[in-house]
Amino acid sequence: MYEYAEKLLDFIAASPSRYHVCANLKSRLISAGYTPLPEQAVWDVRPGGRYVVMRNDSSLLAFRVPEGGAAGFMLAAAHSDSPTFQIKEHAEKVSARCTVLDTEKYGGMLMNTWFDRPLSAAGRIVVERNGALEARLVDIDRDLMIIPSVAIHMNRAANDGVKLQANVDTFPLLGCGTPDFRAIVAEAAGVAPEQILGHDLTLYLRGRGTVLGAADELIAAPKLDDLECAFALAEGFLHAAPSQAIPVLAIFDNEEVGSETKQGAASNFLRDTLRRLTLALGLTEAEYLRLTAGSFMVSADNAHAQHPNHPEFADGQNTPYLNGGVTVKFNANQRYTTDAVSAAAFRALCREAGAAVQEYANRSDLPGGSTLGSISNTRLAMPTVDIGLPQLAMHSAYETAGAQDLDDLVRVMTAFYGKTPIHSAGAVSLR
Ligand code: CO
Repeated sequence: MYEYAEKLLDFIAASPSRYHVCANLKSRLISAGYTPLPEQAVWDVRPGGRYVVMRNDSSLLAFRVPEGGAAGFMLAAAHSDSPTFQIKEHAEKVSARCTVLDTEKYGGMLMNTWFDRPLSAAGRIVVERNGALEARLVDIDRDLMIIPSVAIHMNRAANDGVKLQANVDTFPLLGCGTPDFRAIVAEAAGVAPEQILGHDLTLYLRGRGTVLGAADELIAAPKLDDLECAFALAEGFLHAAPSQAIPVLAIFDNEEVGSETKQGAASNFLRDTLRRLTLALGLTEAEYLRLTAGSFMVSADNAHAQHPNHPEFADGQNTPYLNGGVTVKFNANQRYTTDAVSAAAFRALCREAGAAVQEYANRSDLPGGSTLGSISNTRLAMPTVDIGLPQLAMHSAYETAGAQDLDDLVRVMTAFYGKTPIHSAGAVSLR
């Protein structure tokens, strides 16, 4: 009944780590005729061409060059990472005649949501082969671990609020006795354990997400923040009509840990890529600056829907609802980039695309979150609107959102990527 919910669930199920997110997007882009541009290579970029650039295999930029002169960038960004547990170098710990894995929190998660569910591990390893090193994706892809709760009989206060410690409570149980985790990873990757010289492995929840609700109107799955937006942006990017602008799909890693990494939204990745693209087209530095000034950006990261059991945490008036539409986010302290200019441009676009739109602001005494838009703007400035899809249980291992909202965002982003930004009279029109 809803067009994109099942496709999103397939994408999430195929993307157990942020490396898999980018690899899946990249292979989809290549199937659609995009040419990979390694950052270390000389770039041959031409009008009419389509390209994809990766950094660290966990951030991705894709763009199309129009025939004739370009009129600015139409940029939309989401993030590839989600809160999880990262597995340490020396991970195995023996306790109670079992082996658990030592982990560290990645991002700010609801820790209790990771208990008592089948887990596995996925990510990237670097292996030595014929004297050279190569990175490989790895997904153990079986029910492998579980983080067991303490029984209610041993902690009668368990339902009154429990303090959880990442160095005690959340180590996943790998098995009885002394199983060798590195050997399990090596087997999944088809290499010998001694070939593995490095790893970036994180836990993930097993099982595909699901559609639920009385009218099948809800989506429940891991990592809706922010793979729901990443998916919708990619759909819109791939299906948009041509325009005179350069459409750019941006997927950044490390939003959940502040973005200040070599591949995050605070890095030079976006700025350098757009600059190299314009230089490769034979444009001058001044023309690059003119193009970026004439651009428009959507920063897409999920928003908090009003919670049915706790409506009091929401602002009284500026509160999105599940399946109420794509959400524009506002914040007086500029944690969100939206202002009158960018909100107006985006609202006009939603109206034209026939998509519902609603607004989010924090309850005025709560600080709320932030996202990559304002961080990216400090490196490469352009009018930017912060948007997202309303969801519940943000940063739970299993989150809930609305299927209608997802369809609306795909429709808006398909329209967005077919537009050209026109800066005039102090505003931006997307035409
Ligand atoms: Co997010």
